[in-house]
Amino acid sequence: MTTTNRIDSLSRYHLLGRSGLRVSPLALGTMTFGTEWGWGSPKDTAHRLLARYLEAGGNFLDTADGYTNGTSEEIIGDYFAKQGGRDGAVIATKFTVNTSPGDPNAGGNGRKNIHRAVEGSLRRLKTDYLDLYWMHAWDGITPMEEVMSTLTDLVRVGKIRYIGLSDVPAWYFARAQTLAEREGWERVVALQLEYSLVERNIEREHIPAALELGASITPWSPLASGLLSGKYTREGLVAKGEGRLPAVQGRGNPGMEKLFTEKNWRIVDTLMEVARELDKPPAQVALAWVTRRPGVASTIIGATKLEQLEANLRALDVEIPEAQSAKLDAAGRPELVHPYIFFENAFFTSGMFTGGTSVRAEPTWFRPAVR
Ligand SMILES: NC(=O)c1ccc[n+]([C@@H]2O[C@H](COP(=O)([O-])OP(=O)(O)OC[C@H]3O[C@@H](n4cnc5c(N)ncnc54)[C@H](OP(=O)(O)O)[C@@H]3O)[C@@H](O)[C@H]2O)c1
Repeated sequence: MTTTNRIDSLSRYHLLGRSGLRVSPLALGTMTFGTEWGWGSPKDTAHRLLARYLEAGGNFLDTADGYTNGTSEEIIGDYFAKQGGRDGAVIATKFTVNTSPGDPNAGGNGRKNIHRAVEGSLRRLKTDYLDLYWMHAWDGITPMEEVMSTLTDLVRVGKIRYIGLSDVPAWYFARAQTLAEREGWERVVALQLEYSLVERNIEREHIPAALELGASITPWSPLASGLLSGKYTREGLVAKGEGRLPAVQGRGNPGMEKLFTEKNWRIVDTLMEVARELDKPPAQVALAWVTRRPGVASTIIGATKLEQLEANLRALDVEIPEAQSAKLDAAGRPELVHPYIFFENAFFTSGMFTGGTSVRAEPTWFRPAVR
């Protein structure tokens, strides 16, 4: 490895939650490794992306058993089998997605599925341990005690090193973490949630909970699947241009359809304006904004082309001055609804609550993360 190709900011590692695991501030998302879903990269491109990310100093890879029907994990496994270096990487994968239609125990978060899923991921990744094992999403069914005790057992037998929760309600995480502390289970080190200039709902509950309970946030889709790259034009609310969005819109996926709103296009306009003012690509500005939000340890970026990855890896070096930062913050600020209005409005906080006195709220986790 040559040192000239390194990007210093990528190897200024962050600890993941209250743990000893060091991760790069940008993780490489690999949901687009494999062409099975119609908008990913073939294996040779994926290997080039992986090689470049590692060469630049990145160490944190995000995959899932369900991504491209297992191909994403296989591509990563093949890479390290051929190139070596697996121990230097922090490999994170996920369980929950049902991969055998008709079999209720081949998906979800029950113990039977977790054991089935971990063996499949280890096989496809060609490794004998996972650095971080995510519950991909709350299944709304399995008792939390079953999930947390099963994951704890997997840590104890050495199949996984750390535990994370993705796409869960904040109350679920808060209860899981509190029970873990009481029962002596392994604690949750990170939450993986959608977070970007156009998706800021986690600022209400998840970020304050993570700060309070010692877990990090690892945002996914920080460019809103490419909407915030600035490469799309709009026709009504529809995105036009080369890339994933035209391929997925109109297919009934609610996670994608929610992107195409008047509000989001206005946020794109503000981003473009700020990017012009800073003379930086909009994708870099959008990523720089996410990486600096409270609680964020590592942002999971996606790229299907080498030049996209190269540009995005430089986002950590982009400074956003206060005036531009305020513009971006205002553009997509979540609506101040009940009961949060009580905690963030001076009428209540310095008037009704503290009797007009000035009270310095320490420690920092007491401060709402929203603004
Ligand atoms: N836990 C979960 O439920 C969950 C859900 C989704 C994703 N994830 C994780 O998060 C990772 C990232 O998600 P994502 O791929 O949606 O992230 P994203 O950063 O929002 O979107 C990445 C896409 O934007 C486009 N793009 C990126 N950089 C660009 C640039 N500089 N110029 C122009 N276009 C650019 C590319 O799409 P084109 O191919 O269209 O060019 C790229 O694939 C995934 O790989 C996965 O690991 C987790």
